[in-house]
Amino acid sequence: WIAPALALLIGYLFGSIPFGVLLTRMAGAGDLRSIGSGNIGATNVLRTGRKGLAAATLLLDMLKAVAAILIVEHLYPGEGQLAALGAFLGHCYPVWLRFRGGKGVATLMGIVVALHWPSGLVFAAMWLGMLAALRISSVAGMLAAVSAPVSAALFGRFDLVVLLLALALIVLWKHGANIERLLAGTEPRIGRKG
Ligand code: G3P
Repeated sequence: WIAPALALLIGYLFGSIPFGVLLTRMAGAGDLRSIGSGNIGATNVLRTGRKGLAAATLLLDMLKAVAAILIVEHLYPGEGQLAALGAFLGHCYPVWLRFRGGKGVATLMGIVVALHWPSGLVFAAMWLGMLAALRISSVAGMLAAVSAPVSAALFGRFDLVVLLLALALIVLWKHGANIERLLAGTEPRIGRKG
């Protein structure tokens, strides 16, 4: 049981690094958790007006999952899925922020890219396409997340479906406040204040 436990732990430690909060603070742009939606992800960093910082948050929140999976696969071959689970839970429920973490979209994208890059391409296309079409980050993120188990299944990677389905459901769960705002017609669009 040691290898699976360490895989989860390594994943968690990487995933729980809250890059959005750290970069925003380092740039002197305040505490991300008291800005916009209060979320720690790239979308909310964008609301500080710092595009570069938002792009860096997106990239680092993705790469922390990729790094965790690659390192664990090197140390404990076959335990990549547990590293992915750990990284995702670390991002969404980081001990350092009293378990109040992000909504998981960027980290899930890193996971999908690392575990099965063709599904990662579908994820990125869905996310960017929906973002361009609708300009609502939460909708684009949720649709991309749901695409992950579907494309894994369509590509015949049934071994990934349970994990990706579970992670997509957590992404939806984490977007509860966004879903309420969408239903109320008050969810802000990217590029507008709010
Ligand atoms: O990935 C998070 C995004 O889907 C929504 O972020 O800040 O608009 O709640 P936010």
